[in-house]
Amino acid sequence: MKIMRLFLIFLFLLSSSSSSAFASYTPAIFAFGDSILDAGNNRFNKNCTAQADFPPYELSFFHHPTGRFTNGRTVVDFLSQFIGIGFQKPYLEAYSAVVNGSQKNFPSNGINFASGGSGVLKETNKDLRVISIQKQLLQFEKLVNQNQIDKNLIQKSLFLFECGSNDIFNYFFPLAKPALDPDSYVRAMLAEAAKFINLGARRIAVFSLGPVGCVPARARLPGAPINRCFGKMNVMVKKYNMGLETLVMDIPTVYPGVIAAYGAVYKIVQECR
Ligand SMILES: *[C@@H]1O[C@H](CO)[C@@H](O)[C@H](O)[C@H]1NC(C)=O
Ligand SMILES: *[C@@H]1O[C@H](CO)[C@@H](O)[C@H](O)[C@H]1NC(C)=O
Repeated sequence: MKIMRLFLIFLFLLSSSSSSAFASYTPAIFAFGDSILDAGNNRFNKNCTAQADFPPYELSFFHHPTGRFTNGRTVVDFLSQFIGIGFQKPYLEAYSAVVNGSQKNFPSNGINFASGGSGVLKETNKDLRVISIQKQLLQFEKLVNQNQIDKNLIQKSLFLFECGSNDIFNYFFPLAKPALDPDSYVRAMLAEAAKFINLGARRIAVFSLGPVGCVPARARLPGAPINRCFGKMNVMVKKYNMGLETLVMDIPTVYPGVIAAYGAVYKIVQECR
């Protein structure tokens, strides 16, 4: 039931009549973000050291490495199946297929630009050579400017954004501790997220962050508790999420006609635990 709630947000976003032919309303998905959404961009980026192309990744669904940071499908995959449009290719795969001539055009069901390990701040995991959210946007804009993606398609497409966990996790990482205090750091993150949210997409779904302070890897951070969640980290996550929600809620006023949904991931995870 609780998962349904997140799904209902999308139902609301995707359906404009009682027809089940969702694909005619939402023909494509463009996804931007980190490992939660990545469909394998890092796998096509041999310089990148944040990889998920080995077992146990993928074992339950694809049964071979695709570069997804999960045992099966990502939330983008589930949404694509739900609206009946097929899985999006990672940008780097689609790009190399067009460059090497094996495909004439970019796919018509959208593209996945997400890169595992990336953050909303440019510097986050730069040393792992992940594709920053800023670079992801440039990749998309370049395709649009070159008319490689139909503008009409973009109007009807769903844009997914999920990013920020890695920035907050790295804030507590000893080698990379930033000069900013936690509140200023969150404000800097929100300033970057706002650039994306205000890009001008007509249909946009923004996922908030889950309780990052509860991920098992937190136990390796100095000062983090082992037997419970890392409170200081979750405080930052909640502040970022609140800022994100405000940005999303303001969209209909700032951009009349734009449909935006906020996915309350933190809340849903807490309810499921
Ligand atoms: C990987 O690194 C090499 C050498 O720095 C660079 O020329 C190349 O463009 C990089 N590839 C990607 C996909 O970033
Ligand atoms: C072209 O690139 C695609 C995507 O990376 C790959 O699957 C395909 O094998 C390549 N084809 C050739 C002829 O190199």
